[in-house]
Amino acid sequence: MTDLLRVTGGTPLQGTITVRGAKNFVSKAMVASLLGQCPSVLRNVPQIRDVSVVSGLLSLHGVDVAYNPEAGELRLDPSNVKRGETAEIDAHAGASRIPILFCGPLLHRLGEAFIPDLGGCHIGDRPIDFHLEALRGFGAAVEKGEGGIYLSAPRRLRGTKMALPYPSVGATEQLLLTAVKAEGLTEISNAAIEPEIIDLICVLQKMGAIISVDTDRVIRIEGVDELSGYDHTALGDRIEAASWASAALATGGDVTVRGASQASMMTFLNTFRKVGGKFHIDDDGISFRHPGTQLQSIVLETDVHPGFMTDWQQPLVVALTQATGLSIVHETVYEKRFGFTKALRKMGANIQLYRECLGGSPCRFGQRNFHHSAVVSGPTPLEAADIEVPDLRGGFSHLIAALSAHGTSTVRGISLIDRGYENFQGKLEALGADVERG
Ligand code: EPZ
Repeated sequence: MTDLLRVTGGTPLQGTITVRGAKNFVSKAMVASLLGQCPSVLRNVPQIRDVSVVSGLLSLHGVDVAYNPEAGELRLDPSNVKRGETAEIDAHAGASRIPILFCGPLLHRLGEAFIPDLGGCHIGDRPIDFHLEALRGFGAAVEKGEGGIYLSAPRRLRGTKMALPYPSVGATEQLLLTAVKAEGLTEISNAAIEPEIIDLICVLQKMGAIISVDTDRVIRIEGVDELSGYDHTALGDRIEAASWASAALATGGDVTVRGASQASMMTFLNTFRKVGGKFHIDDDGISFRHPGTQLQSIVLETDVHPGFMTDWQQPLVVALTQATGLSIVHETVYEKRFGFTKALRKMGANIQLYRECLGGSPCRFGQRNFHHSAVVSGPTPLEAADIEVPDLRGGFSHLIAALSAHGTSTVRGISLIDRGYENFQGKLEALGADVERG
């Protein structure tokens, strides 16, 4: 199959699609299965490339993985965990960032781990200093070597106290996945509390862990000697749901997203409403539609939960090109998350980037060389173009732009989108989009 999609824009997306489990939870729950003495079952698992990458990495470490894509059911049996071959792990990890989360579970099971250099979207420097400091705090020996990091635990890891400099999702998960079997107490302050993290805590509690989420971003974990397996249904993917909502708004459409949940999307829904979008919530999901009148410009700042997610920013910016007036967007989570706007400008959008922290509170990236604020002036009609997918969410944003544009666009590198959007071409077709591979 070729890696490009021809998209003829101008048709409002209309219809119903379903989102399954959240990419940014499912992959972590899969890693958690390594900690158990017996098999785990994860349900509502989407057929996306990140799931196959993590399945492959688990298999290399001796986990028996069985996936039924139709049922969305994944069975993970960690009875025979073994050391993986360094070269194979390296070759298999691909562009994923999940391998870093194998550290704690492998140190508990095997006393050692090799973690290849990480991939992931190019939306910032994405250092792993918090992760390494946490692992050292637990007593692990960490050495950077050829192609990755070599870790060992000369004796049982012991609980630690860590105040995260920033509420990092990955570092909080690292601490959780390591602390649950470390000896004694671990305390994380300034922890991330995204719904995907709370669902991971639910999984670990089912396995036998003792974790309390206290006020002011403090999480306390009492280590236990043994964990069992789990049976869990993954929470829905709120990033995918918001991406389809933004696509409905940008194309003037009406899309029902089954599997979208209000509780995890409250902040997005408020913003969607301020832009002028209409939505209706019921037990199965949320319907999003264009109001049929002008969209409003807004001032928006991305933040950690419960703020407006950075991953919602890119798709929504495409809809903001169709709003009347000046919108200001301040990206405070990643320093380089506006790269995707270059293609939008090529298509006719009026977007200017600034180094300053515009429209909100000063962030870590102010007074530095990062264009992390954007001013979007609209509405501007978009024209078809030949565009290249820069990263996962930026890529979906390009699709939305192409769907809103006059004419036929060529979107290259779309296999990147398979990492996190299950069957996106099928869903586009179901919503009436005019798309063709090749
Ligand atoms: C997770 O990335 C998600 N990825 C991202 O989704 C998401 O954007 C992000 O959390 C924020 O919600 C996965 O879950 C696989 P972070 P993660 O650690 O854990 C800095 C998508 O498109 N930082 O919360 O890697 C970092 O540079 C992806 O689905 C350090 O400085 O994000 C960033 O500025 C993209 N040192 C900030 O913290 C560290 O050791 C937040 O990163 C770790 C992070």
